[in-house]
Amino acid sequence: MAPAAVPPLIERPLAPLTDGEIVLRLFEEHDVPALLAAARDRDIPRLTNLPELESEEWVRAWLERVAELWRDGARANFAVADAASNELLGSIGLRLVDGNGQIWYWTLPVARGRGAATRALRLLSGWAFDDLGLTRVQLLAEPENEASQRVAAKAGFQREGLLRSYFELKGRRADGLMYARLRDDP
Ligand SMILES: CC(C)(COP(=O)(O)OP(=O)(O)OC[C@H]1O[C@@H](n2cnc3c(N)ncnc32)[C@H](O)[C@@H]1OP(=O)(O)O)[C@@H](O)C(=O)NCCC(=O)NCCS
Repeated sequence: MAPAAVPPLIERPLAPLTDGEIVLRLFEEHDVPALLAAARDRDIPRLTNLPELESEEWVRAWLERVAELWRDGARANFAVADAASNELLGSIGLRLVDGNGQIWYWTLPVARGRGAATRALRLLSGWAFDDLGLTRVQLLAEPENEASQRVAAKAGFQREGLLRSYFELKGRRADGLMYARLRDDP
């Protein structure tokens, strides 16, 4: 019997990814207070997998775990920062599901509405196609999450359909609208 295929590893980019306005980089020590603020936001903990981070100590422990998962090639979790000030704006990540890049993201309330999530999604998709060699990247947005759907559409993702009670989020089952972009999409 042939050995089971080894899933590909997600390698770190050699340099931060940037479009001149934002940069996708590793998390840095000075991001800790902003991450704590993200964990205390009304929407981020409810709509994403960011865990409960109750203190700066918890944030640091979470960052260690994030770095470990990336070292192991299991998932990429980038900080989204302002290219000029290096200030944290949000986060975007990718893991592999059936050979596809499954993406998630959030931005801090103070950073919303200026295109940061859309720029981050475009940059991450480009990296997934060009550097990781993926042919499909996808994301799941809850039907009520219109801002996230708008981000997906602006970044060239197509809405493919509603997956009912598809994923577990903070102890509840959630419906997911599947959005995807293929390498050859315009
Ligand atoms: C969704 C989220 C990442 C968007 O971040 P952002 O940095 O504001 O995104 P952008 O500025 O790139 O684009 C936001 C778009 O959504 C639109 N939008 C915002 N709130 C909206 C709403 N309630 N209904 C419809 N559209 C909305 C904005 O007008 C903008 O579109 P436009 O450029 O056509 O005007 C941010 O709101 C967030 O972090 N929410 C909580 C976590 C979350 O939902 N993550 C995604 C899980 S699938």
